[in-house]
Amino acid sequence: MAKTFQQLTQILDELRVAERSIGLVPTMGALHAGHLSLVERSRVVADTTIVSIFVNPTQFAPTEDLAKYPRPLERDLEQLQKAGVSVAFVPEVAEIYPDDCTTSIVAPRVAQQLEGEYRPSHFGGVCTVVLKLLHLIPAEVAFFGEKDFQQLAVIRQMAKDLNLVTRIEGCPIIRESDGLAMSSRNVYLSTAEREIAASLNQTLSFVEGQINQGETDGHILMAEMRQRLIDAGVSDIDYAVLAQPSNLEIVDEVTEDCVALIACHVGQTRLLDNRVIQVD
Ligand code: PAF
Repeated sequence: MAKTFQQLTQILDELRVAERSIGLVPTMGALHAGHLSLVERSRVVADTTIVSIFVNPTQFAPTEDLAKYPRPLERDLEQLQKAGVSVAFVPEVAEIYPDDCTTSIVAPRVAQQLEGEYRPSHFGGVCTVVLKLLHLIPAEVAFFGEKDFQQLAVIRQMAKDLNLVTRIEGCPIIRESDGLAMSSRNVYLSTAEREIAASLNQTLSFVEGQINQGETDGHILMAEMRQRLIDAGVSDIDYAVLAQPSNLEIVDEVTEDCVALIACHVGQTRLLDNRVIQVD
């Protein structure tokens, strides 16, 4: 495990000498099967997989769960070892953000709607840390989950805008047996809340079914999504929308492939889910 830049540099030097290609899986730890699927993909694509574990403070607003975000480091490292990952990069906050660090990234336009409306500083923090990681680690490919659909769109756009050489690859959502999308925040849910949380995936299946049966009115579909979530007991819906996958603009009339996106609270826990819906 590398904790400091110095330790990381030493490992990278050895990899360079051995001419091994690097796959980077950036994470905030509390690893689950979703993260391990990114690792698995990286191990297919690259010679060496580096997993970073860093709970990035700049992507949390002061009101959010930075202090209580789960940090089961030993368990994470064990899981990585079992998954065949030989390099974990686990820096301290002071190493990534020294006191005199005042430069940050302005996230691309696709960051502004949806999550951007509810978490205005979030994607700036994500972009800043991802760019720092990509500067530190000369990865050929970096892997991100499609569960955070907008994050993936933002990172892809940043990589394009800033001419990054690392290829950005998205990996499919991994779900629990009840359909709940895997997330490190699922540990916050009580048993009763877990049942309600399953309604996110059910709502996505419902809207996909409606579209497959020929409903094209985006506003009817979005109202139905919202109603389903309310009926299931979801307390607070930030958005339940249909959007264009490329720019996340809201879809009024479904005429081509679109993405259904949900962000809502179940109890105190904010959950996200999405599904790309193919239109014939
Ligand atoms: O998706 C996450 O876990 C984080 O947003 C990321 C990409 C590791 C940046 O901190």
